[in-house]
Amino acid sequence: MKKVRKAVFPVAGLGTRFLPATKAIPKEMLTVVDKPVIQYVVDEAREAGIEHFIFVTGRNKAVIEDHFDVQFELYNTLAQRGKNSELARLQQMQPGPGQTSFTRQQVPLGLGHAVWCARELVGDEPFALLLPDMIMQSERSCMKGMVELHAATGSNIIGVQECDPADAHKYGIVGRGAAVHTGFEITGMVEKPKAGTAPSNLYINGRYILQPEIFAILEHQERGAGNEIQLTDAMLKLQREQAFHGFHYRGETYDCGSPEGFIEANIAFGLARADVGTHVAAVIEKLRLRASSAAA
Ligand code: G1P
Repeated sequence: MKKVRKAVFPVAGLGTRFLPATKAIPKEMLTVVDKPVIQYVVDEAREAGIEHFIFVTGRNKAVIEDHFDVQFELYNTLAQRGKNSELARLQQMQPGPGQTSFTRQQVPLGLGHAVWCARELVGDEPFALLLPDMIMQSERSCMKGMVELHAATGSNIIGVQECDPADAHKYGIVGRGAAVHTGFEITGMVEKPKAGTAPSNLYINGRYILQPEIFAILEHQERGAGNEIQLTDAMLKLQREQAFHGFHYRGETYDCGSPEGFIEANIAFGLARADVGTHVAAVIEKLRLRASSAAA
């Protein structure tokens, strides 16, 4: 069985929910505390053992490529000024030479199409797919658990979490079958189900390990929900030939594609940081007291 070495990051989205911030800056470069959102997702992939990072970008996204490049002048200046911990932190996040690839999704036709754009860079091996809107916080990362499940089953793996049934129409939802290793058999999938039709409350949380056969299906995939080429529809077809297992991730996930999720992520990651956590907690308490005395 082939190991999962490569990860795909679809980062071509326009970020319309974040205008005006995303007029000139990609949404993936907005910062949670002091790191761009995309860095959290790349760090999760690296922690899971991924060695090659493939970005499906679009116009106005070139700064993502710059972010993952060596900034020689900056590194040199930090070294000269003795700012060693800042430099070490940047270097630790830095992909090595030849470990990144970039391609463009020329037309915004949906997630399925974005993934298909990475076919030549992925080649004939299983790959991880991480949607950069979702950032995760837990002791053990979601992708790490998924890579372990894949090593045991050799199947396609989808990360899932529970959602409020009222929110099921916002996501892809899977049906849950028998337990397998640390996961379960997926009995069905539906993208953005209509109210009352979801097969469960387990939503696809933006983490996947897929077999390369998905690309041939995506090539001919018709448009689905939202008039977009949907990855979920292509996975349903692949499921006729290959096993799909769900990995129930138990940590926290923040949807940084929406202002609410993004603010929550900043508070949660801020609170968890050794350097600023106490300050963030004090600020929250101060604001809470101010709001309750204003309401009184
Ligand atoms: C995509 C997937 C969906 C998944 C979601 C997670 O939807 O198509 O299955 O649940 O990401 O964020 P999108 O958010 O692009 O509408």
